[in-house]
Amino acid sequence: MKAALEFCLILLTLHSPGVLSLSTHVAIVYPQDPVLRMGSNLTASCWIHPDLGVHANSLFWTLNGQQLPGSLYKVLSPTNLSLTLVGLNASRQTSGDNLVCHNHKGHILAGSCLYVGMPPEKPVNLTCWSRNTKDLMCSWAPGGRGETNISTQYRLKYKLRWYGTEKECEDYSHTQPYSCSITQDLHLFTPYEIWVEASNRLGRATSDIIILDILDVVTTDPPSGVTVSRVGQLEDQLSVRWEAPPALKDFLFKAKYQIRYRLEESQDWKVMNDVGNQTSCRLAGLRPGTVYFVQVRCNPVGIYGSRKAGIWSEWSHPTAASTPHSERLMSCDSKSSGDSNSTLRRELKQFLGWVKKHAYGCSSMSMKLYDQWRVDMQKSPKTRNQVLQGDKS
Ligand SMILES: *[C@@H]1O[C@H](CO)[C@@H](O)[C@H](O)[C@H]1NC(C)=O
Ligand SMILES: *[C@@H]1O[C@H](CO)[C@@H](O)[C@H](O)[C@H]1NC(C)=O
Ligand SMILES: *[C@@H]1O[C@H](CO)[C@@H](O)[C@H](O)[C@H]1NC(C)=O
Ligand SMILES: *[C@@H]1O[C@H](CO)[C@@H](O)[C@H](O)[C@H]1NC(C)=O
Ligand SMILES: *[C@@H]1O[C@H](CO)[C@@H](O)[C@H](O)[C@H]1NC(C)=O
Ligand SMILES: *[C@@H]1O[C@H](CO)[C@@H](O)[C@H](O)[C@H]1NC(C)=O
Ligand SMILES: *[C@@H]1O[C@H](CO)[C@@H](O)[C@H](O)[C@H]1NC(C)=O
Repeated sequence: MKAALEFCLILLTLHSPGVLSLSTHVAIVYPQDPVLRMGSNLTASCWIHPDLGVHANSLFWTLNGQQLPGSLYKVLSPTNLSLTLVGLNASRQTSGDNLVCHNHKGHILAGSCLYVGMPPEKPVNLTCWSRNTKDLMCSWAPGGRGETNISTQYRLKYKLRWYGTEKECEDYSHTQPYSCSITQDLHLFTPYEIWVEASNRLGRATSDIIILDILDVVTTDPPSGVTVSRVGQLEDQLSVRWEAPPALKDFLFKAKYQIRYRLEESQDWKVMNDVGNQTSCRLAGLRPGTVYFVQVRCNPVGIYGSRKAGIWSEWSHPTAASTPHSERLMSCDSKSSGDSNSTLRRELKQFLGWVKKHAYGCSSMSMKLYDQWRVDMQKSPKTRNQVLQGDKS
């Protein structure tokens, strides 16, 4: 885009912008740098100084370097050639399209930048979020097609709901278009009114106003220190642990977590939704001897009693681990000297199988359940033995 802009400026240096004096120029294109609506028609003319000794019928026009057909030209006088474009397309770049008048050898005589677009429409999809309550970032989308083809300014404005004065966000993102971050003088417990004003040389428009409380739109960093490890020799399980986001450690809130995992060779993530607010979870029903990628994210719900749904953090970097091979488990088992070890392992396996049937997701998996299971098992020692026997074969 920058290169294109410079290109148009080079052309402009052929004229002294503003005052166009025929006497100081070999040629001039009219109109200079017009701003036009998409679909409109334009008649431009290229006037050449009589001293040049060039006839208008030897000239030709280019638009963005492409020669335009002679059928669009009209010789108005020996020194004046006009061009009519019907149904203008939007500008290819916001720095304008280059309309250039050439002599028969192809030398540039004069040029003009065409800015073709549309007046802005109401910006849409204005949303805001706050990372750890330390800022307020908002993004939106342009409301209409064509307004982005000419230079259009978007201003994010805000005020505190009851007594604030109107302010403008200053920290527009350089990496993400249509976004701005309010970083100073943030108020918690007071609703903000936020809106976007769009303007360009064809018009202006204002988005709907959104009203929000920072505490209702808090998101946080992805959980750190995610580790995935085997659960003894259990071939269908992996244990996932992570740490709560440190940035929110001084806040009263109830984090919610989500885990997703996938096979190494697959792109389909499986999501565990109801992990609750704990910082570890067990994945079960996995394939033996298989590498899994695991990610965790956090939703800091209920900061200072906010009732809103909260905003999920990014996913943590993927952590990989593999489940044990079932064959190896078998051989390991037979070699294993410790009866109590293998018994414990079996019990654990059995317990987890039981949990799968009796609990919903990770959040309910706890020692309480384990105890309940022990009680259940003690009530029916036969079942337990049978299962253990069956497991051995
Ligand atoms: C542009 O020119 C075409 C053909 O000459 C005409 O039909 C159309 O109405 C014009 N459009 C505008 C916006 O003037
Ligand atoms: C060339 O012709 C156009 C269209 O008639 C006219 O507007 C313009 O003033 C003319 N330019 C000169 C320098 O005479
Ligand atoms: C607009 O674009 C279409 C397709 O690229 C092209 O055929 C047409 O000539 C263009 N119109 C103008 C006025 O440049
Ligand atoms: C207008 O701008 C959009 C993106 O802003 C671009 O995709 C489109 O190609 C542009 N139109 C033309 C005719 O170059
Ligand atoms: C605005 O959001 C809606 C719903 O998420 C989406 O369908 C639409 O494409 C978005 N509009 C723009 C211009 O991004
Ligand atoms: C998790 O939630 C329970 C209630 O659902 C609550 O008692 C506990 O304090 C919470 N723990 C954390 C670390 O937020
Ligand atoms: C259980 O296994 C561990 C290592 O896997 C071993 O160090 C320990 O001695 C075993 N316990 C018994 C009672 O065999």
